[in-house]
Amino acid sequence: MHDTTPATSRILVWDLPVRLFHWMLAISFAGAWVTADSERWRDTHILLGYTAGVLVMLRVVWGLVGTRHARFTSFVRGPRRVIAYLRSLVSDRPEHATGHNPAGAWAIIALLALTLAIVATGLAVEADAGPKNLDDVHEALATAMLVVVGIHVAGVVLGSLVHRENLVRAMITGRKLGAPGEAIGSPRRLVAVALVALVVGVWTGVLPTPGLPTNEGLTAITAKAPQARHHGDSGND
Ligand code: HEM
Repeated sequence: MHDTTPATSRILVWDLPVRLFHWMLAISFAGAWVTADSERWRDTHILLGYTAGVLVMLRVVWGLVGTRHARFTSFVRGPRRVIAYLRSLVSDRPEHATGHNPAGAWAIIALLALTLAIVATGLAVEADAGPKNLDDVHEALATAMLVVVGIHVAGVVLGSLVHRENLVRAMITGRKLGAPGEAIGSPRRLVAVALVALVVGVWTGVLPTPGLPTNEGLTAITAKAPQARHHGDSGND
């Protein structure tokens, strides 16, 4: 968001659901990436991907009804604003955003959209639906995601340096530089608890997981791993 008021103090900008969503998504993607080529870790890969899909769908809802800076309308801007923001970075008065900056916002939208596309193609491959080369599409989308994550993290580092503000810490504590009137009123702890409960429900197989053929959660994963090892699977295939 373009600030008209000077960033004066550290205020609460990211509610707890946004922060938990962010780090759970980052972990899910990283985990799904490293388990992608292993038959032994296949169930884990599917469950991590599924978790990422659930997280993004909830984030989309939160982007419509959530707190001020979590809402899409507060940070998604047109190309002119993106260019103006990028230009300001090389000027002597870089534009500071209390929430997401206009350029970073598009990387975020790309990450959300790519996650949904990766999960949808992954589930279709798992269900043997769709065209034959769908697994190639799934892989290509995951590679594109890795590239966008790289751009995203580089943008976070650049933004932190330009604005002399640790954005990674802000995504942990929720606090960023801003005018007091821009602060959100509550970290929304109850919504955060519900979010974690949902993810735990998926992981334990307690909650129904539409789209997944079966889900016995961690029970199945931990029961299968030694069995696969027994059959000479080194875990790297
Ligand atoms: C070590 C790796 C990462 C770091 C340090 C990091 C850091 C951050 C930071 C600081 C923000 C807030 C940006 C801002 O101030 O505008 C952010 C937002 C975001 N990041 Fe990351 N990120 C990482 C990895 C990832 C990964 C792997 C994904 C996706 C799989 C991801 C997806 C997102 C999304 C979707 C947002 C928007 C959050 C929201 O509004 O809900 N990030 N990230």
